[in-house]
This record gives sequence, C-alpha cells and structure tokens, in this order.
Amino acid sequence: MTSTLVTGISTLVTNDPALGEGPLGLVEDAAVVLDGERVAWAGPASGAPAADERHDAQGCAALPGFVDSHSHLLFGGDRTAEFNARMSGRPYSAGGIRTTVAATREASDGELADNLARYLAEARRQGTTTMETKSGYGLTPGQESRALRVASQQTDEVTYLGAHIVAPEYADDPAAYVDLVTGPMLDACAPYARWVDVFCEKGAFDGDQARAVLTAGQAKGLTPRVHANQLSYGPGVQLAVELGAASADHCTHLSDADVDALSQSADTVATLLPGCEFSTRAVYPDARRLLDAGVTVALSTDCNPGSSFTSSMPFCVAVAVREMGMTPDEAVWAATAGGARALRRTDIGRIAPGALADLVLLDAPSHVHLAYRPGVPLVSRVWRRGALLG
Ligand code: NIG
Ligand code: FE
Repeated sequence: MTSTLVTGISTLVTNDPALGEGPLGLVEDAAVVLDGERVAWAGPASGAPAADERHDAQGCAALPGFVDSHSHLLFGGDRTAEFNARMSGRPYSAGGIRTTVAATREASDGELADNLARYLAEARRQGTTTMETKSGYGLTPGQESRALRVASQQTDEVTYLGAHIVAPEYADDPAAYVDLVTGPMLDACAPYARWVDVFCEKGAFDGDQARAVLTAGQAKGLTPRVHANQLSYGPGVQLAVELGAASADHCTHLSDADVDALSQSADTVATLLPGCEFSTRAVYPDARRLLDAGVTVALSTDCNPGSSFTSSMPFCVAVAVREMGMTPDEAVWAATAGGARALRRTDIGRIAPGALADLVLLDAPSHVHLAYRPGVPLVSRVWRRGALLG
C-alpha cells in the first residue's frame, strides 16, 4: 500500500473542528497524508510525517470530496423539449416524470449502466466522490429491480423509489399501486437498496400512502428518506422526522411547525436541492431560516433529466450562497459533511485520520472561490478512495 503526502495546500477544509479553525476545521498552509484508501494524517505542513510519494498542491485549496446524497441517474432519454417549454413559461409539474418512465422502460440494461457511468464520471470530474442514486423511472417490479441492480454495481448508496409517481397502468387505482410498491416490488428491490424514498406531494403520494411505503421499507431493513414539501406545503417533512428518516429532501415550502420538527430532530437532515429551483424557475428554499433554527442542512444536485439536470456540486454551492442565504462556509460544509450526515456516514465528508481518502484540490486559494467564481471549473485534482482520478 502506497502513502502519498499532499503538501503545499493553501487552505484545507477538514470539517473536523479538532484539527483546525471553526466548524470547517480550516488549516492554513496544510498537508494531508493518504495511505491506501484512507487518510492517515492531516494538519499544518510543518508537522507532516514522511510518505512514500509526494504531491505538491502548489497553493491550491483542498477539501473533502463532495457528497451528493440525492440523484436520479437511472433513466433513458432526456427532457430537452420540456425544459425548453418551461423556459418559455410553462410551469413544472410531476407529470413530466411519465415521459422518462416511458423512455427508461425502453432502455436496455447496458444503456442504463452506461448512462449511470457517464453521469458518475461527470460528477467525479467536478469533485463528487460519493453519489447516492435512485430508481423511480421503471415503476414495475422488474423495471425497478433491474435499475437498482445496475445502480448497485456502481455505487453503494442506492435508494428504492418505486413510489415516485403512480405507474400509468394504475392511474385509476392508486391504492393497488401502493400495494405493489409495498409488496412484490419491495421484495424484488430491497436486496439491492440501502434506502427507501417516496415523493410525498400532491399529484404523487399523500401522507398516508407515503407512511405505508416508508414503513414497509423499514420492515425490510431499508432506512427512509423523503421527497418532502417540494411543490407545496404538506405532510412530508413531519412524516420524515416522525419516522426517523435520514433526510427530508427539497424542503422548499415549510411551515413553522416543519422547521421546528427538523430543528428538534437529531436524525433528519434537511437536504436542499438548488439545481431544482434553478431549472424549474421556482422559489428557492430558505436555507437561512433552517440554519438559524439549528437544522442540519445538506446540499445536493438532485441530478435528473426533468427538474435538475446538473451533476455539479460546485454549481449548487454557488447558487445556495447567492440565492438561499448561506455563507460560503455553510454551503461548503453542507455539500460535504452535510451530505455525509444525510447518508449517515462518518467515513466521508471530512479529512481526518481514518476517513476515506476522498480529497479535492481547487485551482484557487480557498474554498470560498467555489461561490466567488461561479461556473469556473476550479476542481483540478480528485483522489477517490486514495486513487488519483486521471
Ligand atoms: O426530485 N420530485 C420528484 N422527483 C424529481 C424530479 C423527477 C423528474 O422530474 O423527472 C425531483 O425533483
Ligand atoms: Fe429528487
């Protein structure tokens, strides 16, 4: 196993307050030692131990790889026409999902796998080293389970979202579709998934249906996460907190009671998805309100062909700072440590001894430039599980 000393780092984000200053655990003039797939050491360059190899970061800033805890990458086709129509004034609705369901059902396993690999690689080039992804565009037991099987071959963070919308075949009998999702479809999917998710929204699943989906998943050993309060006020956030979900995602339309519930929860992170509001010209979630209430906030891309076709965490950081009231430090924390919390992981989202060696160098003197220089490809080097991506 080879160790590498990465030195010459201008500012290092460790996300470990014991290693440096403030919540980001910032270290100036820093170094990191990577040993195999783990971090062996992080701190001021002056105290760095020796290693087999040396990499001079030449004044780059460094931070943990981004943790993108919410995406939908198992799909066929795209929705360019719908996006064009929306940018000409048509509103976003959950109905567009049906277009992708039809295209996904037509795609071969190989096409799904290639599509997923393409977007994972795209995300990695932009500094994402862990990416969750979901089913939800197949909506039959066979289609959902093959999507999750494909996903499980490329990422550890796999989510069963059979309850994305009611399948077209069940449009007249949503209760029967919920029975399918909580019965045979769950049985077929659970072996490939870690998480169960539901789109709790008008036009998708109501609070009772969402509860049935999530508790059935829990009974099969899956942990809940919820698409909650995206398009309107509703029961999603409070259901997520009540069931101890790892995350309530979107959180765009929140009552005071929703914010209170999140702030009192030790389990449920609020995952905000700025790409979605950007791409649907919707009102952004109020991150400041959540942070001021003490809620743990994560940022994620929600990468999918309908509502948010971006795989870029740097883009999400920049939009969250400009539009959602986050400071650059808060947004960078949310895109790294926050995502790790939303996936209940302690081995990612931080640069500290024992953590996975997921390290990103920026062609910039500090992490603040992610927001200060929006749209500029600042990510210059990415180590993932100790391997330098070429
Ligand atoms: O998270 N809100 C539900 N699902 C996705 C959108 C999926 C689509 O439009 O294809 C989301 O935004
Ligand atoms: Fe989503």
